[in-house]
Amino acid sequence: MNTIVLAAQKGGCGKSTLAASLAVAAMQEGRSVRLIETDPQGTLWNWQQRRACSVPGVDVISDVVQLEQRLWIFSRQDVAVTIIDTASGISPLTNAAIRRADLCLIPVRPSIVDIEAVAPTLGTARASARSFAFILNYASNRGRRAGDAAAGLGDETAPDLGNVVAQPYIGTRVQHQDAFGKGLAVTEYAPTTESADEIRRLWQWVANRLNQTVPASARAATKAAPGQTARNPASIGKASLPHRFMDF
Ligand SMILES: Nc1ncnc2c1ncn2[C@@H]1O[C@H](COP(=O)(O)OP(=O)(O)O)[C@@H](O)[C@H]1O
Ligand SMILES: [Mg+2]
Repeated sequence: MNTIVLAAQKGGCGKSTLAASLAVAAMQEGRSVRLIETDPQGTLWNWQQRRACSVPGVDVISDVVQLEQRLWIFSRQDVAVTIIDTASGISPLTNAAIRRADLCLIPVRPSIVDIEAVAPTLGTARASARSFAFILNYASNRGRRAGDAAAGLGDETAPDLGNVVAQPYIGTRVQHQDAFGKGLAVTEYAPTTESADEIRRLWQWVANRLNQTVPASARAATKAAPGQTARNPASIGKASLPHRFMDF
C-alpha cells in the first residue's frame, strides 16, 4: 500500500480539495483507494456525505493510535493507495501522518507568504526522512509567478527541481469549488475540462514518484547493499527560503 499525506501549515492552500481530487483520479484509474480525515473541521467527511456513492471511503480519526491501527488494517485489506488529509498547522497527529507516509505532498500558493510558511512542514518531512513534493496550487495561467515560485521552492536543488515540484501546476478554476460542493471531484464533475486534465496528470506524476519510493511497509526490510549509499529523497530541497520572491 502507498500512503500519501497532504500537509501544510497554511489553511486554504488546497489540502482537502487535492486529497479528494487525487483519490478520485487514482480510483478512476482502477486503484483501491481510501481517504483518512485527521482534520477536526471534517471537510472530507462532509464531502463524502454529499456524494452519491460510497467510494472512496473516508475514515475519520482523531489520534495517533487510531491512525496506526487504520493504516495497519488498510494494508491488510489490499488497499492500494491511502491519502491522509490533515489540519492546517503542525500537530502531533499531522507529524505522525507525515512520518507514516511514503510521500508528503505540500500544496503551496505561489506567493511569498505561502512559500515562507512551508518551512515547518518541510522540516518535519526532512527530519523523518520522508519523500516530499510541493504542489503549486492556484497557479495563474498568466505571467511567470508560478514558474518563479517553483524555482524558489527548488532553490539550491536545481538538478532536482522536477522531483521537488509536482507537475503540472494546478490552475485557479472555479470547477474545483463547484465539484467539491456537490460531493464530486473535478474529474467527475467536469471531466473534459483543463482542470480535470491537470488533476489526472498530477495523479500520474504522483504515481510515478511513488514508484521511485520504497513503501513504508517494505522500508524496514530494505537494507542498502554493502558499499552503496542510498540517496535520501528528503535530503533535497533545503528549507532555506527563496529570497528571489521578495520582488513578487
Ligand atoms: N485550484 C483551485 N482553484 C479554485 N479554487 C480552489 C483550488 N484549490 C482549492 N480551491 C478552493 O479553495 C478553498 C480552500 O481549499 P481547501 O482544499 O479547503 O484548503 P485546505 O484544506 O488547505 O484548508 C476551497 O473553497 C476550495 O474549493
Ligand atoms: Mg482542509
